[in-house]
Amino acid sequence: MRSYRIESFGILICFLSAVSLAIPSHFVEKSVLFSQKLLEQPDITKSWTSHLISYLTHSWQSSYDTKGTAPNDDFEEWLEKQHNRAVYRIVENIGGALGTTDDIADGAVIASPSRFHPDYFYQWTRDAAITVNYLVQRLDDSKFNDTELDLPRVIESYILNSYRLQRLTNPSGNFETLSGLGEPKFMPDSTPFSGPWGRPQRDGPGLRAITISNYLNLLEKYNQEISSDELHNSSFIYEQIIKPDLRYITKYWSSSGFDLWEEIDSYHLFTSLTQLKALMMGMELSSRFKDQEFHTTLVVAFNALRFFILVDSGFQPSDYPFLIETPSLVAKGRRCGLDMASILATLQAHDVDNQDDTLFIPFPVTDSSVMNTLSALVDDMKYRYPINHKYIGLPVGFALGRYPEDIYDGYGISEGNPWFISTATAAELIYKLVYSLSMNSQSIVITPQQMKSLSRVLPIQYVISGQNLVVSSKAESYNVILDSLLKYADTFLQIIKEHVDADGHMSEQFNRYSGFLEGVEDLTWSYGSFWSATRWRSKAIAAVQN
Ligand code: NOJ
Ligand code: NOJ
Repeated sequence: MRSYRIESFGILICFLSAVSLAIPSHFVEKSVLFSQKLLEQPDITKSWTSHLISYLTHSWQSSYDTKGTAPNDDFEEWLEKQHNRAVYRIVENIGGALGTTDDIADGAVIASPSRFHPDYFYQWTRDAAITVNYLVQRLDDSKFNDTELDLPRVIESYILNSYRLQRLTNPSGNFETLSGLGEPKFMPDSTPFSGPWGRPQRDGPGLRAITISNYLNLLEKYNQEISSDELHNSSFIYEQIIKPDLRYITKYWSSSGFDLWEEIDSYHLFTSLTQLKALMMGMELSSRFKDQEFHTTLVVAFNALRFFILVDSGFQPSDYPFLIETPSLVAKGRRCGLDMASILATLQAHDVDNQDDTLFIPFPVTDSSVMNTLSALVDDMKYRYPINHKYIGLPVGFALGRYPEDIYDGYGISEGNPWFISTATAAELIYKLVYSLSMNSQSIVITPQQMKSLSRVLPIQYVISGQNLVVSSKAESYNVILDSLLKYADTFLQIIKEHVDADGHMSEQFNRYSGFLEGVEDLTWSYGSFWSATRWRSKAIAAVQN
């Protein structure tokens, strides 16, 4: 498997999104028009609500309701089982976590155990950081009392392995100039990978810094100490591991690099936004460790990178309703800009419980441009992948892939398929949206761009001509709409249920025609993204019930 650069794509169109862009105000289908004002009047929402409820009872095969009963036990049971399996399968892919491993270094997270067709038996900085971050969250959920998997030991072995990887001279460079930190992948025994690849990838240091900072924050929260002798204490980890990664960002955020899909050398929303989050966490840590000078360096870089993201980058052009992952590709007419990576960016760069993230880091889950992006991806991919066709017209989600123009089939180049990561990520975004709205009693805002996909899913059969639908938290319909969003999110997980094998094994992709597992088997990140989606499902349900 070699990395490649798409050079001569010609003009690819995101068929449906192009159409909806051209006619943004023609979502008018039915007869009633609810204006923003009308909906906010309680008497109108009242009669509207009864309409909603009857619509709901008739059209939903629900797996969950607000009273906490679970009519669809099968699905609920499967979710729980698969949630637990997922965390085990992540840990199985970490060297030394469940016993000694011969050819995998302690703390090395392999992307998959598969050594051929395709060979993913490597450690990717990105996959490792993202999945270990989920283990940190699980440790938090257990209140730092995970007796089952001994997660502190597993996480600390990952941190120690990161310390070693950082210092390896590799094809991207070395530790002295920091350039080596942009190396995307290493051998399982933690030696450099010397083959050709799309490098550097500049998201790795930020993602790693986020995960390790989260672990330090957890130690602080539960008043715990580092157990590993070699890692000494939090201050050692901050100085020797987190700081080099943050320095890397301050030095290289304005240089181009390969995207998370390892194909395009340019500027990417996923890379920039996760770098920004890492700098923000670094600002907090540097204050805690009284590292004033470095704190100032971080603040300066943070402001510059934030300005780049909001103004210069083109990630959110004023005439586009959705976020653009790699603006240079759109400028050259090679892609439409829609990419699941933009949603992943929001999810990795925002801790939804942290108000500062919402205030200072662009594109929180409640920012309309984020749901607009998901809606446009859904509107495209429900047609693009034949396995979705049988569901068109039903109030459900669809199998989603990376980006419309994708041609990586999991082994080589032909046609792109739906991915487990993308489909689980859609669910997670909606759960987090419901969670945030509900926790903050924030109005639900549905934009015309979201209408096409949401009008089938939400109990609203009206028309809107280019206006947002705003439902205040005081309206009776508020919880009904949040419930239907939850059910919508569930349907993405139902798709995953349909396509895993009998033992819940997940590969990277599933076939766009047959739905069978495709691409590398047991991809660590697939399990991670599923685990995280189900974690947020529980949190969102609890938030709505309270
Ligand atoms: C491997 C990369 O990881 C994948 O994202 C890419 O699409 C293929 N190489 C293309 O060859
Ligand atoms: C291909 C994906 O495009 C990339 O994001 C990932 O890091 C590698 N596979 C390893 O899973």
